Amino acid sequence: MLLMIRKDYDAVSKEGARIVAELVRRKPDCVLGFATGNSPLGIYQELIRMHREDGLDFSKVTTFNLDEYVGLPPEHEQSYHYFMWENLFKHINVGQRHVNIPHGMADDIEGHCVWYEEQIEKAGGIDLQILGIGENGHIAFNEPGSSLGSRTRIKTLTEKTRQDNARLFDSMDQVPKYAITMGVGTIMDARKLLMLASGKGKADAIKNTIEGPISAMVPATIVQMHQHATLLIDEAAASSLSGEWEGE
Ligand code: F6R
Repeated sequence: MLLMIRKDYDAVSKEGARIVAELVRRKPDCVLGFATGNSPLGIYQELIRMHREDGLDFSKVTTFNLDEYVGLPPEHEQSYHYFMWENLFKHINVGQRHVNIPHGMADDIEGHCVWYEEQIEKAGGIDLQILGIGENGHIAFNEPGSSLGSRTRIKTLTEKTRQDNARLFDSMDQVPKYAITMGVGTIMDARKLLMLASGKGKADAIKNTIEGPISAMVPATIVQMHQHATLLIDEAAASSLSGEWEGE
């Protein structure tokens, strides 16, 4: 694992965007795996800037997102479709037909999950998968206890996740109960992983991920088994590490 410690969220975002942009320039038809949430937002903003100011070209890039809520249509403001279009896709020149996000309104969810895996394979696999990490060590919607070999599938959201999300919906019964998520095994098939973490709230999860034993109870620890995993974190997220890591 390559550990990169940067001063703060902004520095992490700039470095992350540099890594993504370098790949897009070197391999214009690359396959990028995207995440939602706060961690990659700064990278997306920087990629938008690079597209506008430096002409970074996404026209041949294919994208796959990690996850989506079941039951939310793409235009719902809390859907991950909406998040990705608002925060990245509509501001760059990625082709709509090259964007892949699990469909939360699919009639046959199980069939859709199999189809999603097939699309990743057809595209030649994911070159670089961006990941956030939950405070409990989850990656995508693979919560503690998820099989480390799992593939794209439907998962029941934990009560804690539903409660955390409740503020974004009018009432508790509107909060989705299920999500479609790439599995841990699907994520591990990506040729490179870029895991992001910022802030003290992520420090314990990062400590477990880097220094702890590999365990399904902390799904992120599986990145220890990946041949090309980079952890790009800020000093606050690195603050619980016992090793003598140095920031730049
Ligand atoms: C989002 C996702 C989640 C987040 C994680 C961290 O697509 O898969 O696993 O990456 O919950 O979220 P933030 O970045 O908001 O702290």
